[in-house]
Amino acid sequence: MKSICVLPGDGIGPEVVGCATRVLERVTDQLELHTADIGRAAFHRSGEHLPTDTIAAMEASDSCLFGAVTSDEGAGYDSPVLRFRKELDLFANLRPVKNIAKVSTAAMDLLIVRENTEGLYTMNEHEDDAGVTTMRRVSRSACERIVEKAIDEARRTGRKSVCCVHKANVLRKSDGLFLQVFRDAARTRGQGLKFTDQLVDSAAAKMVTRPEAFDVVVTLNLYGDILSDLAAGIVGGLGFAPSGNMGDRRSVFEPAHGSAPDIAGKGIANPTATILAAAMMLDHLGFSVEASHVRESTEQVYRKGLRTVDVGGNLGSEKFTDRVLCNLKSML
Ligand code: NAI
Ligand code: MG
Repeated sequence: MKSICVLPGDGIGPEVVGCATRVLERVTDQLELHTADIGRAAFHRSGEHLPTDTIAAMEASDSCLFGAVTSDEGAGYDSPVLRFRKELDLFANLRPVKNIAKVSTAAMDLLIVRENTEGLYTMNEHEDDAGVTTMRRVSRSACERIVEKAIDEARRTGRKSVCCVHKANVLRKSDGLFLQVFRDAARTRGQGLKFTDQLVDSAAAKMVTRPEAFDVVVTLNLYGDILSDLAAGIVGGLGFAPSGNMGDRRSVFEPAHGSAPDIAGKGIANPTATILAAAMMLDHLGFSVEASHVRESTEQVYRKGLRTVDVGGNLGSEKFTDRVLCNLKSML
């Protein structure tokens, strides 16, 4: 039995997480799901967006499934997402993007491995009379472990090539360090894999024009944040991009998207990303057969020509999930 901390959050978070837990409960009876609050509901209860008892529940679980939260604009807002990534030492963010809805012909099936702890993503900003300075730390140890993770994931998933995406032509020292670490790792432990590197701006263009050129992409925090949404946009939107925040001991799986306030409460959010994030969690916990059943039954819905609302279809969140469960039934 594995214990899972479920964190619905706010906006469409509870809607898409509800769909994913329906799928999890159907595919296995080996998970014990318990819910904890994060985001606005947590703030109303406790005065904190990530209360101490929530982080304790996350730490005590075998893994976590998270929806999304809405960022508050007020000064002093402490992002619960950045906090749990830091407190649980979730140093790698795995973001697979695959064209399953076929709203375009893009041959996209890539894995973005995003550094998840530093770079331009720590809300570390200092104001003075003339403006604002943002701290951007790139440490050798963070580069080494993210590159190592990318190589491990490439091997684990049978992928062939790893591309380091950087801006070392301008950020010569910081991104230069990242690139150097990547090249060293390619030399010492890259046997059987192909290694390339590319500047982030031209990589973005290539991802649109030749998505098939990418297999595993390893990149720094903000580049990974942006490129993963770009990749998702090419295959139908953010409703198709799952992610896994991985540490050595802890993990939190979530859709790459946010709380989508524009569609919250309408029952039309696409739960695909969250269901696929749940499949990633199953894989991680050793339920690989169940994980592939979930992936297959989700992809089958699209193969049958059915579509969620975001890609021009008429399936709302629950109706889509009904279809997934129906496909699942024939596999179990
Ligand atoms: P967003 O990802 O919430 O939404 C961007 C667009 O994509 C919207 O038009 C939305 O309707 C659409 N979209 C997103 N997920 C969808 C789904 N499952 N199905 C159908 N359409 C979907 O990003 P946005 O609007 O930039 O941010 C909204 C809020 O979410 C902000 O407060 C932001 O800070 C927060 N956010 C939270 C994240 C998290 O909790 N991990 C990650 C990203 C943003
Ligand atoms: Mg993002």
